[in-house]
Amino acid sequence: MINFLDLIIFIIPAYLANSAPVIVGGGTPMDLGKKFSDKRRILGDGKTIRGFIGGVAAGVIISALITNFFPLEIFGSAKMQFLSGVLLSLGTLVGDAVGSFVKRRMNINPGKPFLLDQLSFLIVALLFSFPFSPKEFFGIVPLLFLFIITYLSHVGSNYAANRLGLKKVPW
Ligand code: CTP
Ligand code: MG
Repeated sequence: MINFLDLIIFIIPAYLANSAPVIVGGGTPMDLGKKFSDKRRILGDGKTIRGFIGGVAAGVIISALITNFFPLEIFGSAKMQFLSGVLLSLGTLVGDAVGSFVKRRMNINPGKPFLLDQLSFLIVALLFSFPFSPKEFFGIVPLLFLFIITYLSHVGSNYAANRLGLKKVPW
């Protein structure tokens, strides 16, 4: 039987890595302003080098803290728990960039909401962390749980940002 609190603790590095770039990002875009063969930007101005590095760094730092303060037996060792968080963080930023690449190919501008915004980062994060993470987390029930809470937290945070006046639209 899988423990859902363990699952939430497991996924936190991905969430932090995904949200940190909004605060620490900016500056030179990862695609250096270059265009793809379709004459549109490879990734766009929303994916910056500082955001990528800052996002991974934030995820790595929180992984170290979580491993220290919330060691979970299910990982087998502290090293595996930490590495799982590191790979989740790296996968999050790679998945985020892959999502932007797909959006640009579909001619969807940066900032415009798209279903992949919430899915691509989680899919790639889980793929990257798979070798270091408990196999119990990769069953149909835990995966569904992760995708649902990720979607709900996205909807919830957008609604909150809208109510706080940080965002014009509640989505
Ligand atoms: N950000 C960044 N570097 C990254 C990812 C994000 O600097 N690697 C920052 C950018 O300022 C970006 C903001 O975080 O505008 C929000 O990220 P996101 O929603 O992923 O980007 P969008 O601007 O919506 O662009 P896209 O359509 O390409 O996802
Ligand atoms: Mg966006």
